Amino acid sequence: MMNQPFRIRPADDEDIPVIGEILVETWRHTFRGIIDDAFLAGMTEQDQSLRHARRMGAKGVAYQAGVDRDGMIGFANYGPPRGAVSSGVMELYSLYIRPAAQGMGLGKALVQTAARDCRSQGAEGLFAWVLAENANRGFYEYLGATASARSTIRVGSRDHEQIAYLWQDLDELVDL
Ligand SMILES: CC(C)(COP(=O)(O)OP(=O)(O)OC[C@H]1O[C@@H](n2cnc3c(N)ncnc32)[C@H](O)[C@@H]1OP(=O)(O)O)[C@@H](O)C(=O)NCCC(=O)NCCS
Repeated sequence: MMNQPFRIRPADDEDIPVIGEILVETWRHTFRGIIDDAFLAGMTEQDQSLRHARRMGAKGVAYQAGVDRDGMIGFANYGPPRGAVSSGVMELYSLYIRPAAQGMGLGKALVQTAARDCRSQGAEGLFAWVLAENANRGFYEYLGATASARSTIRVGSRDHEQIAYLWQDLDELVDL
């Protein structure tokens, strides 16, 4: 097996402050020029941590952390789909890797960990909502997900188009 500079473990309550920190850092980096500046400037680690503390307590929701020797460098969060979706499908709610840690395989490893977990719970598919303007939708396409739905989401003062990327077959994703 390839010798990777990170490992993956389930995240818990103690990781909540770092999750807030990673979110704010990664949003400002990824969405500058896409989501309005005032919204990005107004994000706080405390708010994001609170949001995830609530979510972590919800039924069926799971968190995986990517860590290197200095601490957490990314995380994934998934569980039952929000909204009406066909049964047998789980939702990847968040996937964020610190900018400095992107491109070394952690995103893929986290998605595959989530896929294995969802499969062991009996799910057949997994999907994630991604802003259409986010260049990282290429990551989902590269890993075999296909655009399965579109909708509009309001973030700050602007409407944004979002795309649901779906892996229909978790076996294929796990075996990539
Ligand atoms: C998108 C993101 C999760 C990808 O994780 P990552 O650790 O940087 O990506 P990986 O190193 O695991 O890449 C896995 C493969 O996907 C490819 N890939 C990564 N980003 C890509 C992109 N934007 N477009 C096309 N392919 C991409 C890589 O080249 C790699 O290919 P390989 O396996 O042949 O070497 C991460 O960069 C990130 O958190 N970005 C900011 C936040 C974000 O956009 N999150 C997702 C949407 S909300």
